[in-house]
Order: sequence, then structure tokens, then C-alpha cells
Amino acid sequence: MKQERAKWGSNLGFILAAIGSAVGLGNIWGFPYKMGKSGGFTFLLIYLVLAIFVGFVVMLSELALGRKTGMGVVGAYRAISKKFSWVGWLGVIAPFLLLCFYVVLGGYCLEYAVINVTELFTNATPMTGAESFSGMLSNPLRSMGYTFVFTLINYFIVRGGIQGGIEKFSNIGMPALFVMLVVIIIRSLTLPGAIEGVKFMFVPGYAVSAGFIAQEPDFINVLSTAGGQMFFSLSLAMGAMVTYGSYLEKKENLVKNSVLIVFADTLVALMAGLAVIPAAVSIGLQQGIAVGDIKLSGANLLFVTLQDVFVSMGKMGAVFGIVFYVLVLIAAISSVISLVEVVVTMFMDQAHAKGKKGNRSKIVVCVCLAFFAVSLVVAADGLGSNGLWIPFRELSAQVAADGTVTYPAITGCWLDFLDCWAEGVAMPLGALLMSLMIGWEIKPKTLLEEINLGSNISWIGGFYTVCIKFIVPVAMVFILLGQVSDFFGLHLFG
Ligand code: PHE
Repeated sequence: MKQERAKWGSNLGFILAAIGSAVGLGNIWGFPYKMGKSGGFTFLLIYLVLAIFVGFVVMLSELALGRKTGMGVVGAYRAISKKFSWVGWLGVIAPFLLLCFYVVLGGYCLEYAVINVTELFTNATPMTGAESFSGMLSNPLRSMGYTFVFTLINYFIVRGGIQGGIEKFSNIGMPALFVMLVVIIIRSLTLPGAIEGVKFMFVPGYAVSAGFIAQEPDFINVLSTAGGQMFFSLSLAMGAMVTYGSYLEKKENLVKNSVLIVFADTLVALMAGLAVIPAAVSIGLQQGIAVGDIKLSGANLLFVTLQDVFVSMGKMGAVFGIVFYVLVLIAAISSVISLVEVVVTMFMDQAHAKGKKGNRSKIVVCVCLAFFAVSLVVAADGLGSNGLWIPFRELSAQVAADGTVTYPAITGCWLDFLDCWAEGVAMPLGALLMSLMIGWEIKPKTLLEEINLGSNISWIGGFYTVCIKFIVPVAMVFILLGQVSDFFGLHLFG
């Protein structure tokens, strides 16, 4: 018996869920500081060009692939290609690896929301950001507890199904996130010295001249950082968009939807920058730190610097703190549920292929338990601060002439270890292979038929064909090399 596939309740519901998947820690955490680190405005320009010619095209391809085959990522590749049928597996392994650490970060956000609630309702002297942060990292059991609660929230949402869980959450969560972000932006921009942060983001060359970074990074580096960031931020090559697309009605316009998702994700990334960077610069100046020495990257930005901003504002700060960390929490949840759904859909598809209905609740429990088990190790490691053993660590040690030993990102801590394989290898490799499959094996017209079902935009055929055959593969090779070089410390581009 053929099983009826679940569908989104409305196109808006789909759009909000897809934007929810895209908008996550990558926007709020990664984008602002990568933009700064890579020379601000130049990065933004490259990011936008890549988003149009690569991000949009891959997004459109994934949605079309999912909707055409009516299956999640493993089934979709198997149905459409002979040579590349195995690529679908990359699309479930990568999100699984990503889940193993993303839920720990989600747990951190939850913990910070709780810290701010406590500060609002008790009269104890608030801890500084650094104290909260080190207290959190060095308490593995507490981190594991928060990871558990965070996982549980996601479990309940995904168990509710496409319409009853994911869509419902996104319909409320996404508008709420937007409003909260506007509140934080207004607060951030009205802090003393905030303008320095705005200049850091938008004035060409300012990051260097003000001393935030030592020198303008070279073009290839900016290209690969921007490309990697864009891919991660748009939830591409992780099976998420194929999966979400597979639940979409044939009448919906894939081109318009893709444009909207890419646009909204980029907008939120820029807004997050305006919420985070000026506040971070302002508190640095207040603490007497020289402009160039203010730390705008890494975990510190979100969990130390920003917490200091809130603490410095007294009780009202705790309110803003709650708004901010709940906002990040919503962003993290809406991304995690899409990742869980990728794996869940694969198992549901398998059951359907055998003519069975598939027990969604049971599948969701098993999937959640599997990544939760690995996430406990990541939580225990506390971003490396608890010194857990990491595979290949000794092998990867790099000894400098003066005897100092450093480790590349991949063996820096458990989180980075998993991230390197997911974001550094599987993601760009998956996208490269997908573009080769569409461009050269099954041919662009196979997907264009699907794309044109709900839209009649005349230029899309030519644009899509050129991009997917030539531009996307070339860009992906650079992004792949850049990511691998970066994560594995190979210094391929200087
Ligand atoms: N796009 C999410 C972020 O920016 C991460 C993500 C990647 C989610 C891939 C789902 C799939 O944080």
C-alpha cells in the first residue's frame, strides 16, 4: 500500500520552517565575527555574490530534488542518480555529526537564559561573563543536564510531525525571534561607543585601521571563509532543504521560496551583527580595553562579552539577557529540528518503501538518543577545557621551531573535531558532488522541469544551467580546499 506523504499546512509555514533551519547559531554567532575577521565590508560583498550565484542555486536544487522525488536525502539521491546514489549518505551523516555538538551549544544558551532569570529574581551579586562561562564549562554534569533538556524540547517538537510540530513551532518562534532581535538591536545601538562596532562591520578597511585585525586577509581566504559560512548558514548540503522540500506541494513556487529564504537568512545575519558587535565593542571600551584588543570572535563573544554587557546594565540587563538568550535558543531549536527531521525522514522513507507506516515516535526517540549519547562527550569536554582525549590529537601536533606545540582546529576539542568532519568535509564535498550530478549526469533540465512546475520565470533556465554546471562546482572546490586547509591547519593559502 502506498503511504500518503505528510505535507506542510501552508507555503508560509514551509517558508518559516526553512528560514528557521537557516537562521541559527551560524547567523548570530558565526556571521558577525567572521565578517569582522575577514575585513568587514569585503567579506559582505563576497558573501552576497556567493549567496546569489551559489547559495540560491544550491537551495533551489535541493528543494527541487526533494519535491521531485518526494523523499528525504538518501531516497532522493537513490531515486535520481546511478553514479551518485551514495551521496545521500553524506547528507545524513553530516547532520548527525552536527547534531552531536549543536545540542550542547543549545544547552549553553538555555543555561545562560536561566542565569539571567536567576539574576533578575535574586539579589546576589551577578557573576561576570567570564565567571559564568568557566563555571559552565568546568561543570560537565550541569552541561549534560542542559543538553538533555534542550534535546528533549527538540524531541517533542519533531515527534509532533511536519505540521503538528515543526510548522507550529516555526509559526510562532520565527516572528517572535524577529521582534526580539529588533529589541536587542535598539538597545545595542544606543550603548556608548556602539558606533565603533557599526564601523567595524560596514566601513571598508576599518577593521584593519582600528586594529581589530592585524592585516587585511587575502582574497582566497575571504572567499573560502565567506563560502563556508554561507553554506552553513543557509543549511545547505546537510539534507535539510531536500527533506523540507519533499513535504512541499507541487503548486508552490520554488524560485520565489528560495529567494525568500536566502534573503531572510542574510538579513537576520546582518541584524544579528548589529545586535552583537556594537554591544561587544561598547562594553570593551567601558572596561578600558583598547579598540583593537576587544575580543569579537569565538565562544567568548556570546557567552562572556555579551553577558558582561547585560550584567553592566543591572536588573534591566537581566531582562535584555533573557530576551537575547531566548532568541538564540529559538534560533538553535529551529535549526536542530530540521537536522533531526533529516534523519527521521530517512527512516520513515525506508519504512514506507517496505509498505509500512513507520512509527514516527519510536524513530524520533531512537535518533535523539543516538546523537544525545555522543553529545554527552562533547558536553563533558567543555570546549576542551576539561582535557578529554581526542582522536588523532598526538598525530596532529605541530611543533614550532621554539618547541611550542599547537594543534589544528580539528583536534582542538571534541566540538571542533565533529565540526571539521561535518562542516569542513562532508558539507562542501556533498555540495560539490551534487552540482556535478545535476550539471553533468542527470542534466539541469531534469530539475528545471520540477522548478518550473510552480513558476514561470523565463530567465531561470539559462541562469540555473550556467551556475550549476560551472560556477557552483568551481566555487565548491575552493570552499572545500579552504575549509580543509583551515580546519586541518594545512595553510594551503598562506
Ligand atoms: N543554518 C544553521 C545555522 O546557521 C545550521 C544548520 C546547518 C542547520 C545545516 C541545519 C542544517 O546555525
